[in-house]
Amino acid sequence: MNNAIKEQYDIKANKYNSLREVLHVKYVKRPSIEAYFSFNLKGKRVLDLACGEGEMSRYLYKKGAIVTGLDNSKELISIAKDKNIKFDTDINYLHGDGFKLQNINQKFDFIVGIYFLNYVSSKRKLNDFLKLSKNFLKSDSKMIFLIPDYDFRKYYNNYGIESFTPKNEGDKLKFKIFHDDGQLGIELECFYWKMKTYETAFKDAGFKFREHALIISQEGLKKYSTKFWTELKANPIFKIYELSL
Ligand SMILES: C[S@@+](CC[C@H](N)C(=O)[O-])C[C@H]1O[C@@H](n2cnc3c(N)ncnc32)[C@H](O)[C@@H]1O
Repeated sequence: MNNAIKEQYDIKANKYNSLREVLHVKYVKRPSIEAYFSFNLKGKRVLDLACGEGEMSRYLYKKGAIVTGLDNSKELISIAKDKNIKFDTDINYLHGDGFKLQNINQKFDFIVGIYFLNYVSSKRKLNDFLKLSKNFLKSDSKMIFLIPDYDFRKYYNNYGIESFTPKNEGDKLKFKIFHDDGQLGIELECFYWKMKTYETAFKDAGFKFREHALIISQEGLKKYSTKFWTELKANPIFKIYELSL
């Protein structure tokens, strides 16, 4: 992977860690993922790919899952491990490349990747990852991916994000995340792929897939108008896919 993209989360780990409570995270991303995992996870094995500082890993652990978190940022893995102590969790955090499923040697009931597939640098790597992932799934396992849809970038500003989408798929894409008071929080880069490209790759690798609806939290519904959220649902800034074999 491009080194600048690989290293950005190490350099900006603390900045990224301070963005846990921005608008799209607290009102849309978190409630949507939590709604997906509304069932009992006791004893289920979950792999959180691109786990970052571990927020989703902790949520799944608290729901009874046996969780492994994998991220290629040493800094974020170190913060996640510190939070194991702070929040009294026992999550197995590993440093490695999620697309190679490095250091993973067991099968999971769920493989989760939240803001993960937008870091894949080529279609070949995406295809290889999807094929490889089958070695770590059981016949009834699911993979859940939250992927930003950068073709809805013109709506991003409403939700505290700004993105500069290039014309060609596979090009680097710069984006900014703002705090709710409008202050710039962080500037990052990933890769631009169309949703259709991901969907074709899922199918070609032999997965069935369906979209999971975006859920707005009660707090978000109270804070912003119906129009604000209707617009977001009509122009979803990210999609959540469930893949099964
Ligand atoms: C926007 S953050 C999302 C973190 C977490 N999933 C969340 O939602 O809070 C993107 C994460 O992807 C990780 N990442 C990017 N490329 C990766 C790769 N090849 N393998 C593992 N992690 C990767 C970054 O280090 C970063 O933690």
